[in-house]
Amino acid sequence: MEIIVCKTKEEASRKAAALVAALVKKNPKAVLGLATGSTPIPLYKELIALNKAKKISFKQVRSWNLDEYWGLPPTHDQSYRYFMDTNLFDHVDIAKKSTHVLNGLAKDAAKECAAYEKAIKAAGGIDLQVLGIGSDGHIAFNEPGSSLASRTRLVSLTPQTVKDNSRFFKKAADVPRYALSMGVGSIMEAKRVVLLAFGANKAAAVAGAVEGGVSQFCTASALQMHPDAWFFCDAAAAAKLKLRKYYTVRGEEALARELA
Ligand code: F6R
Repeated sequence: MEIIVCKTKEEASRKAAALVAALVKKNPKAVLGLATGSTPIPLYKELIALNKAKKISFKQVRSWNLDEYWGLPPTHDQSYRYFMDTNLFDHVDIAKKSTHVLNGLAKDAAKECAAYEKAIKAAGGIDLQVLGIGSDGHIAFNEPGSSLASRTRLVSLTPQTVKDNSRFFKKAADVPRYALSMGVGSIMEAKRVVLLAFGANKAAAVAGAVEGGVSQFCTASALQMHPDAWFFCDAAAAAKLKLRKYYTVRGEEALARELA
C-alpha cells in the first residue's frame, strides 16, 4: 500500500490523474473502474483537461462503475449514470457504449449483478479501480459488516451513508436505501487500486483502513491485502495516520518510480 499525502485535494487529484494517464498511454484499451461521489470530481476534471490537451485519449478505454442506487432511473440527476455522464463521459472522447453502470431499474438484481461481473471478466478484468471512501470506511457500497469476499449484489445502506449522501438530495427521505454495488472481493481483483480521500470527516476511516486491523467493519481495510493499492489523501484526511510522514516520503518515491 502506498500513501501519498498532499496539502490539497487538487494536488492529490493531479498526482492520481498522472497514474491514470500513464496507464491509458501505455494501454489505450485499458479497463477502468470508476467511482462517483464528491471525491473523484477533481480527478475527473484533471482527466478532462488531459484529454482536451490531447495528452490522453479515452477512445478505446472501457469503464465499469462501482455502484448505482437501486430504484433510480439513469436519467435521475442523482443516479450514478447521470453523474458519470455529466462529470466525465460527456467531456472526453470515450465511446458511451464502452461505459458501464449497473442498471438501478433492473427487475432481477441478482441477474444484473452476475451479468456485470461476467462482462468485467470478459473484458480482461479491471486494470485500475478508482475508489472513494465513506466516513464509515466503506468502499463502493460495502458497508460495515459486508463480507470481504463479497461480490456484486443488492445492498442496503447504513443510516450514516444515507445521512452523508442526503447532501445531494432535496431531503434525507429522498435518498435511496438500497444500491447495487460491486463487492469487496470484486474490487480486490482489480490489478491496481487508487483510493482518494479528502477532508477531516474521512480521517478516522483512512486511519482505520491503513493502520487498523483488516476487518469487515471497515471494508477499505481489505486493501491492506491488495498487492498494488495507492491512497491519495489531502492533509486533513491523513491527519490521524500515525506514520504519515514516513508514508509520504515512501509514497512520493514510489510515485516518481512509476511515472519515470
Ligand atoms: C461511489 C462510492 C462510494 C463513495 C463514498 C464517498 O461510487 O462507491 O463508496 O466513494 O461514499 O463518497 P464522497 O466522495 O461523496 O464522500
